[in-house]
Amino acid sequence: MSGLVVAMDGPSGSGKSSASRGVARALGLRYLDTGAMYRAVTWWMLQRGVDLADAATIAARAGEPALTVGTDPDSPGIAVDGADVSGPIRGSEVTGAVSAVSAVPEVRRRLVDLQREIIAAALPSGGIVVEGRDIGTVVAPDAPVKVYLTASAEARAVRRTAELAGTTVEAQRAAMARRDALDSTRTIDPLAKAADAVELDTTPLDLDEVIAEVLRLVKERT
Ligand code: C5P
Repeated sequence: MSGLVVAMDGPSGSGKSSASRGVARALGLRYLDTGAMYRAVTWWMLQRGVDLADAATIAARAGEPALTVGTDPDSPGIAVDGADVSGPIRGSEVTGAVSAVSAVPEVRRRLVDLQREIIAAALPSGGIVVEGRDIGTVVAPDAPVKVYLTASAEARAVRRTAELAGTTVEAQRAAMARRDALDSTRTIDPLAKAADAVELDTTPLDLDEVIAEVLRLVKERT
């Protein structure tokens, strides 16, 4: 049995993480948060004092951090060099820096290889739901189910503000617009909807409705 891959792409705040974890739980699949991997490498670079404008050094050191990536949808977790960084990678410093690090080709090559290994390892036990920006286009172009989640800028900013302490909808809207612009205009593997992905606007939907719609697609396509 080859196992199922569900590719979930979309911009920040589109509801990818909650929906992906919910779908993985419902189907008894593994779950991979590729954004957490880019965040973990970014955290490592910041810890080492690497200048974010220095793409050559980021490229040269891209292979140094050793990542351990959890795939349990209930508690995925991620460690760098053996230390759990699940909390620190969500901080504003990493969030503000991650687009610069994820635009470096050597970083992407290394993480895409690792993502494909994790996906291959999950197939014998049934499969995996993978969320990111380039899953349907680059990481798993043969995935039988590809979803591209969107939501209005307002809805995305409101959701993100509810998740974070000490911020405002306006600040989040500006921060997300900046990150999405960087992620979708970089030259290598930009945020993009795969030609065969189904676009799902989550603005009017609650989480259960988004999960139900993805489960319906899985049923239809498998
Ligand atoms: O999904 P999340 O917001 O945690 O992703 C953080 C960042 O990681 C994105 O803004 C993007 O720069 C990068 N990323 C990426 N490719 C992916 C997943 C995330 O470039 N597949």
